[in-house]
Amino acid sequence: MLRKNPFYLKVLPPEAPFCNRVRELKELENYGYSGTSVVIYSPRREGKTSLVNRVQERLHKSGAVTVKADFLSVFSVEDIAARLAKAVFSETKKHEPLYRKAVSLIKSFRPAVQTDPLTGSVSLTLLSVSGKTGFELLEDVLESLKIFSQSAGSPLNIFIDEFQEVTSLRDSAKIEALLRTYMQETSASFFFVGSRRRILSDMFNERKRPFYKMAMSYPLEKIAENELSHWIKEQFEHSGVLCEAELACELVRLAHRHTFYVQKLGMLTFNLSDKAVTRESLIAAYQDLLESEKTVFEESYLKPLASAQRNLLTALARENTKQPFAQYYIRRHSLPSAATLQSALKALLNEDLVHRDADIYTLVDKVFEDYLRRNYS
Ligand SMILES: Nc1ncnc2c1ncn2[C@@H]1O[C@H](COP(=O)(O)OP(=O)(O)OP(=O)(O)O)[C@@H](O)[C@H]1O
Ligand SMILES: [Mg+2]
Repeated sequence: MLRKNPFYLKVLPPEAPFCNRVRELKELENYGYSGTSVVIYSPRREGKTSLVNRVQERLHKSGAVTVKADFLSVFSVEDIAARLAKAVFSETKKHEPLYRKAVSLIKSFRPAVQTDPLTGSVSLTLLSVSGKTGFELLEDVLESLKIFSQSAGSPLNIFIDEFQEVTSLRDSAKIEALLRTYMQETSASFFFVGSRRRILSDMFNERKRPFYKMAMSYPLEKIAENELSHWIKEQFEHSGVLCEAELACELVRLAHRHTFYVQKLGMLTFNLSDKAVTRESLIAAYQDLLESEKTVFEESYLKPLASAQRNLLTALARENTKQPFAQYYIRRHSLPSAATLQSALKALLNEDLVHRDADIYTLVDKVFEDYLRRNYS
């Protein structure tokens, strides 16, 4: 019999099972509703977008106006202006009076709703109609957003995903300054979300930067082991596959409590299971997980690194340490000189591949660490 695999590899849709995050949902909902801006960060694929989507859903149910813009691969000032405008039009489309208000206020762009004749799906495209470009265009959109938020009559929450990508633009300092001015003039709350902890934390914690102290820092922690294992067991059993508590714990430990790996290992184990999860199927599924992540590990993580960075990373995977520059560590792992290692470590920290956890340098992605240990020893 064909059974539906209960696990998800993408951002969780609203109807999908969601593990815990009870405290985070409540806290972020309160911040959003009371106009407090927050910068939410965690390593990649730890559940930020899924969580904040749910928070916005709750805010929406409580009467707030919620808007979501994604800055992934944003490429210019005009693009930022367009993404913000599109976010407002898309969200308000469902509420005619608000949509009309947005259209009358955001004059730089005219939205056009298009229906795909084949699939019937509806999409929204924007026409730039003011003739304005660059900062003038962004300023214009921000000014209209300000008036929109004043006249919306309810709290406004703006979720900007992958916010750190602003810093990749040529004029990023000026963009940050402009956004800050707008933030100061509006009562809207912002959720700035991203996975590049270093970049985000520098943006909000460096005195000289425009966003200094403009938002509360909210590192998203991992979900507790017992919560995750209980949830995993439930997912298997709702889909007709028995899973002993001990094996559910083992799965969560192998995935290092990382939500994406927990889901993926769950999915792969489910595929290999019949009536019940066995230790053999779990171990085989973990091999499949490492194999299926190989391209990401090799091409996205390892390939861009200089050789000293790669050597240090694989050494740290073999042996986490407090002292990567100590002579014994350098000798044991055949590493280059301490001076070379210092700049290599700085680069690995900046890339969020390595972090310092209780004084020990260790890899951020522990499944990647395991992959390196197995393949580069
Ligand atoms: N509370 C949760 N319970 C179960 N699974 C979750 C939970 N939150 C997220 N996930 C799973 O974790 C994975 C990553 O989720 P999501 O895309 O929301 O993370 P992210 O931190 O935004 O990732 P990225 O850094 O790539 O933007 C997905 O497979 C999702 O299904
Ligand atoms: Mg995300």
